[in-house]
Amino acid sequence: MTTAGKSAPSRWVRAHAGLIPAGSKVLDVAAGGGRHTRFFNGLGYRVTALDRDVSGLQDLGGVGVDIHAADLEDGSPWPLGDRQYGGIIVTNYLHRPLLPSLAGALAPGGVLIYETFGAGNERFGKPSNPDFLLRPGELLDFASEHGLQVLAYECGEVSEPKRAIIQRMGAKRLK
Ligand SMILES: C[S@@+](CC[C@H](N)C(=O)[O-])C[C@H]1O[C@@H](n2cnc3c(N)ncnc32)[C@H](O)[C@@H]1O
Repeated sequence: MTTAGKSAPSRWVRAHAGLIPAGSKVLDVAAGGGRHTRFFNGLGYRVTALDRDVSGLQDLGGVGVDIHAADLEDGSPWPLGDRQYGGIIVTNYLHRPLLPSLAGALAPGGVLIYETFGAGNERFGKPSNPDFLLRPGELLDFASEHGLQVLAYECGEVSEPKRAIIQRMGAKRLK
């Protein structure tokens, strides 16, 4: 992956950003260097960036961005309590036990935009651990189990920013 590929917002996220209600709060889960935090902040959204390592976000605090450091995999309760968001963004990250909390953190009318690696990606390199790879249709099953309306979905091989198996979805919480 090129540096530009890492810092530019994902095309999937950009393409579906307009589904997120204007003026709502956006949560960027496992935000990393904050490419989507920066993107949504630039669109005028208030953004919460959540990651265990917030070192790549330090230039962002106080400009419509809340930075929240938390380990999402150490068994602690979901760190954001009952706060809800009009948009939740998850890219290149999967920790299955977190999925119900993501659904719960979505406000009615809110949209989850998810994009990460899928089963079969091991052919192309990392991630190759099944714990980090979505099973075929897993995001669709997740949406169905949590009453989310699927607005967009793709699963398959991509060549950009590198060859990979990717599963991605945009889904709305109706009530
Ligand atoms: C591959 S990066 C993706 C970053 C960002 N979502 C993106 O696509 O640019 C994975 C991110 O997950 C975060 N992460 C990994 N394990 C975590 C954990 N246990 N708790 C919180 N964040 C974690 C890492 O710090 C890293 O920023």
